[in-house]
Order: sequence, then C-alpha cells, then structure tokens
Amino acid sequence: MEMDALTIQHMLYALRDPAGLPFYPWAFFGVGILTFAMHFFAVTILLGGVLVALRHFNSPNPYARQLAYAMANVSKIAVSAAIVLGVAPLLAVQVYYDPLWYTSNVLSAYWVIAFVFILIVAYSLHYVFYHLNYGGSERLKARWSIAWALIGYLLVGFIMHGLSYQTLSPDQWLTWYAPNGQIDNSGTSLHDYSLLRYSFFILLSIPFIGAYMMAYATYWSSRQDKDPAYLQFVFQEGIRWVMVGVPLVTLLLLGYFFSLPEKWQSFLTSPWALLWLVGTILVGLITLRARKHGFQCGYRPIIAAFIGMLAIAIAREMLRYEAIIPYYDFMDYKVSLDLFTTSVFGFTFLVLGISTIGYLLTVTWKAGKTKGIYQASAIMNAWAQFNIGLLIFWTLGYFALMAINSF
Ligand code: HEM
Repeated sequence: MEMDALTIQHMLYALRDPAGLPFYPWAFFGVGILTFAMHFFAVTILLGGVLVALRHFNSPNPYARQLAYAMANVSKIAVSAAIVLGVAPLLAVQVYYDPLWYTSNVLSAYWVIAFVFILIVAYSLHYVFYHLNYGGSERLKARWSIAWALIGYLLVGFIMHGLSYQTLSPDQWLTWYAPNGQIDNSGTSLHDYSLLRYSFFILLSIPFIGAYMMAYATYWSSRQDKDPAYLQFVFQEGIRWVMVGVPLVTLLLLGYFFSLPEKWQSFLTSPWALLWLVGTILVGLITLRARKHGFQCGYRPIIAAFIGMLAIAIAREMLRYEAIIPYYDFMDYKVSLDLFTTSVFGFTFLVLGISTIGYLLTVTWKAGKTKGIYQASAIMNAWAQFNIGLLIFWTLGYFALMAINSF
C-alpha cells in the first residue's frame, strides 16, 4: 500500500508542531549537524578503543598489552562523552524533523525503549572489565565483559541507525504500519536499514582511533618519565590503523553510494557525495604527510579526523534533505520568534558551557603534562573562581528570569 506524494506531504505537514519554532530552522539544522559530528566522533573513539583492547589483549608484546589497557580506559570515558553528546543532536533533530523522527520512533517503539536498557547493560559490563583489571596487570582478565559491552554498543548503534534510516522514507511508513492492510502497532520491527552504511559508520572507528593513538603518543612524548619506545610503538600502531581503516571505509562508502535506491540517485552527482568522500579520506591524506614528521605533527591526524567527521555529518544530513524534499522542507517551518529563551540557550551554551568545559579540559591537559602533583597557576585559580561565580549567577538568573517571564 503506497501513498502518493501529495498525501505524504499533507501528512507530514499535519504532524508539525503548530506552535512553530522559537528561532530560525537553519539554526537548529546547524546545531544538529555540529552536535552529531561531536557525538559520532566520540562513538568512533569508544568503539575503536574497545577494538584496540580486544586486538592486543593477549599479545606477547608487553607494549601492545599496555596499549590494550590504556585504550580500554579511553573507550570507557568516550562512552560517557558519546551519551552526553548524543542528547544534543537528538534534541535538534526532533525540532526540525519532528514529524519524521517521532514517526520513526513510534514505528519501532520497542527498540527505542530497549536502546536505553541495552546501553545500561553494556556500559555496566565495561565497568566490570575496568574493575577486574583496575591498575593494569600482566594479562588482562575478563575479556568476555568488554566483548559483550562491544556487542551491546553495536546493537545500540544499529537501533540508532535504523531509527535514522527510517526517517528517509516516509513513502514506506504506511506499508510498515499496516503491512497488507493489517495494522501492526507492536513496534517490534526495525523496518529499514543499510548494512553498508551502518558498517561504514561503525568501521570509521578504525582510522579515527588510529589518529587518536597518534595524538595520544604525541601528548605523552613531552613527559620525561614516559617510555619513548612504548610511545613510538603506539604512534606506529596509530599509523597502521589509519592506513588500514581508510581504504576499508572508503570501499564501504562507495558500496553504500552504489546501493542507493533509484529515487536518491541524484545525490550521487551532487557536491555532497563528494564532500562525504573527502571527509572519509581526509584523515588518511593528513596521516600520510604527518607520519614523516613524527611527534611534531602528531595532532594533525586527529584534527583532520574531526574536520572529516564534520564534512560527513553535513553530507549525511544533505542526503536526508534531498531524500525527503519531494514531500517536506524543514526550511519553511513556521517561526514564532522567542528571543528570550533563545538568548538563555545561547548564554548557557556559548558562555557557561565553553568557560566551564574549557576549564576542565585545560586543567586535565596541564595535569597530564606534569610529572608528580600538578599545582594550578594563579590564572587557572582565577578561572576556577570565575566559573563558580558564573554557575551561581546562571542558576539564580535562570530561575529569576523564568519567574519574571511567567507573569
Ligand atoms: C553509546 C553507543 C552509541 C552508538 C554506538 C551510537 C551509534 C550511532 C549510529 C551508528 C548512528 C547512525 C548513523 C547513521 O546511519 O546515520 C547514530 C546516530 C545518532 N545517535 Fe548515536 N550511538 C550511541 C549512543 C547514542 C545515545 C546515547 C544517543 C542519545 C541520547 C544517541 C543519539 C544519536 C542521534 C540523535 C543520532 C542521529 C539521528 C538522526 O540524525 O536521525 N546515540 N548513533
């Protein structure tokens, strides 16, 4: 049972929030792209870290085992970053594509709920591994726990991929909701997915963790008490992961492009497809140059990986735009300009967020660079005091403004 384009268009516009958006749609679109890039960058480090850990667990080389332990810990922290940074694109997409995102979620509601529980179990297993290996040991124990955590993360990623992919085909929704005219409101199916696209996103973690390892080795190389031979091993291993990973994901991407259904073929000749391809190979190109200069250029690949991720995020969103433009254009969303809440959001994000997170990252960076106990400088102390004041000001100001605004 198929709906014609006009009926789909009416359905999607009827599902829109009649209150409109508090600010211009392009702004939500931009925030969605930027935060998806940040979310997925963290996802690649989390998956890549687990892959490196599993690869080198039982290696006869002690440096490889040390790296396995280090990357298992990096991935543990990356999970929390991926979760926190996942919420932001979730909020954005449900603003500018609310009819699409909510319908996709309702069609697979069972999996949306399962997502939360699977993630809790997977992350708990990651901590089981961490606890059993606390402090590092000659041979890492409980490999099963981190392997099952990885399976959980892959499943969670597949659910997200399916939910996202279903938004591209509103012309199929009725068929999924009522196959052969029989309503199926169980929500137990993920109706649409692309294994090539899913594998592309998952295996992007191979080159990206490679770039991360190069940056990791570069970072520690300024510390006199770190073993230079170990750092050299990590750096070389990083190059290897980038060089193996880039051709692999490029092939997967090309496979995905050529598997696109007829209705989306025009995307292939658009500049966005090229942008996606360039975003994918960028880290490889930069690594080819950076590896010759060793630690001097060790941060370049990770910066290239993030810029590449941003390019991929833009192209991915443009594919969705082109796929649904016959029925729906988020750019014509009604705007009920609300400068008050938009300014509160802007201040929270740009002033409070950048200042506090910037402080935490700077202090962590400096502490890691210091042998022994790190003593904060006067400037760092002043920045910390400023942030505390800012938080108090924000909390009081937020409630005061909301109270005033509600009268
Ligand atoms: C920690 C494990 C996670 C993994 C492995 C993962 C992986 C993925 C994957 C594979 C995609 C789809 C890429 C595509 O095909 O376009 C995706 C998209 C997304 N994920 Fe995650 N994710 C994780 C956690 C989360 C969490 C906890 C949230 C939110 C709270 C989240 C929010 C999103 C959003 C909003 C999208 C984009 C949806 C869209 O634009 O349609 N993810 N993620």
